[in-house]
Amino acid sequence: MKILFIGDIVGSVGRKALKEVLPILKARHQPTMIIANGENAAAGRGITKQIAKEMFDMGIHGITLGNHTWDQKEIFDFIDDERRMVRPANFPEGTPGLGWTTIKANGKELVIINIQGRTFLPPLDCPFQTVDYILEQLDHRDRFILVDFHAEATSEKISMGWHLDGKVSVVVGTHTHVQSHDERVLPQGTAYVTDVGMVGPRDGVLGMEKTAVLQRFRTSLPVRFVVDEGKWHFHAVLIDVDEQTGFSKSIQLVRLFEDEFIMS
Ligand SMILES: [Fe+2]
Ligand SMILES: [Fe+2]
Repeated sequence: MKILFIGDIVGSVGRKALKEVLPILKARHQPTMIIANGENAAAGRGITKQIAKEMFDMGIHGITLGNHTWDQKEIFDFIDDERRMVRPANFPEGTPGLGWTTIKANGKELVIINIQGRTFLPPLDCPFQTVDYILEQLDHRDRFILVDFHAEATSEKISMGWHLDGKVSVVVGTHTHVQSHDERVLPQGTAYVTDVGMVGPRDGVLGMEKTAVLQRFRTSLPVRFVVDEGKWHFHAVLIDVDEQTGFSKSIQLVRLFEDEFIMS
């Protein structure tokens, strides 16, 4: 099974990048499953029903979220009906939406689990205990499992990688918007990367227009951030999972730039 996991898609520039890049990646790699983080897809904050539909229509099979899950009010109108989308599973009990789900595509099934870190992020239930609890609920036939650990601290993410090595197929990190260069298959067969990186404007600050961010840092005054309008960069990972064991054979970084992207 080949899994293409695409990092945080930021605003209209991110969605434009997706539209341009996805058909090429699909033709080139023929991924069995395409999963993307959509927490910033609507103008950098949250996701709408229309944008989620747009992403599914483009061929994305499953969407993960994160700390921006609730930024668009209309999320509450559709999250409970959308079984292809997950928000962090360690949000308080009774929270709308699913923390994990099974995605079906191309005759295969992949369990996707979304978990949020607690270091430099709001306090939540323990991500490690939550993921353990979810794994206990799974059927023993659930061989293909992907965890999107949406977290800030590299130490917390690497720890989650070690915690889940040999228990799931893939652990990918999201949230920092900066791709890390530490992709590897861990000793017990779990593919891991600390952060997949983002899809969106390249010349801003994590997708936001840079003048405003700089002003906030330099003056500490309140400044409104908007998504940058510039050219895109696109970050993802491609994972090859062994059909028999459910463990990973390889993980490869994908990194593309609008200017240098050759449509072939
Ligand atoms: Fe994000
Ligand atoms: Fe985030």
